[in-house]
Amino acid sequence: MRDVAKRAGVSISTVSHVVNNSRPVSNSARQRVIQAMDELGYKPNALARSLRQQKTNSIGLIVPDSANPFFAEVARGIEDTSFDQNYSVILCNSDGNLDKQAIYTNLLIERQVAGILFVAAGVSTELVDDLHRRRVPLVIIDREIPNVSVDTVLTNHYQGGFLATQHLIDLGHLRIACISAGSELSPSAERVTGYRDALETSGIAFDQSLVVRGDFQYESGYHAAHKLLQKEAPPTAVFASNDLMAVGCISAITESGMRVPDQISVVGFDDVKLASFSNPPLTTIAQPKREIGELATEILLARIQDLDAPQRFERLETSLIVRRSTCKLKRN
Ligand code: RIB
Repeated sequence: MRDVAKRAGVSISTVSHVVNNSRPVSNSARQRVIQAMDELGYKPNALARSLRQQKTNSIGLIVPDSANPFFAEVARGIEDTSFDQNYSVILCNSDGNLDKQAIYTNLLIERQVAGILFVAAGVSTELVDDLHRRRVPLVIIDREIPNVSVDTVLTNHYQGGFLATQHLIDLGHLRIACISAGSELSPSAERVTGYRDALETSGIAFDQSLVVRGDFQYESGYHAAHKLLQKEAPPTAVFASNDLMAVGCISAITESGMRVPDQISVVGFDDVKLASFSNPPLTTIAQPKREIGELATEILLARIQDLDAPQRFERLETSLIVRRSTCKLKRN
């Protein structure tokens, strides 16, 4: 650090403030320090830095809906892995709101968390850029943020949408509806693209009127199903882009006096524990929820140790879980 200071023509404390981002430093001084560190091959000692920064042994987790069992099951993988590494987890709920996400992010930084895991509310790069500037270790889960270099762990949502729809096509269904969660959410958009490509790969024309927007909540699946049942030619199968909407969909179909799957087959997405106990048990696309949490935590802990390690981007596989909410199309 002394050599860096001398080369950069600044004090040792200025070098420390640049390394620890602990006080504002003029851009020219910051650039001279960074250049000197590069030229001298100086790598700040992560452990020493964390002690100087008084970083706590805690990590922040921000999710869009802590009541959604998908995030709860991912959080379980995060908490177990963190606890084994002597880290505690602070759970925050953004409600998918960018402002609330920013409030919690600042609160976590004030609490001097060692790093942050978050499921992005929207695709704003501003927060990621800010955390990079503040040299806060960060891993994105579930929803890709384009055009930023940040550690990311998610599943192949497109593959899952294709698998779900192909399963229904294999059962003989031709009029297959889709309950989405809005194209602004990349997991939903990618699943709908997989749905559409599966139809077109089998020579089934894509019908936009069979795609109804939900919001990943039970109620939106329920209302979407009622809307589909009112169509002149209702679907014989529904792909709901998460399990909660699939359960809401089944509720509406049953309430209308029809039977799942005899009259309408339903497929969900996530394979949360609820899926096994719905009535009928839900055919769905499994996301490796615990593995997502474990892997994201391992990557974050490695980033805490070395801020300058190469970026990680992990896309995990989904799989089809066939239960009793789907069956072959019955010809009337
Ligand atoms: O059920 C919540 C949904 O939001 C999941 O499918 C998950 O992938 C997230 O995007």
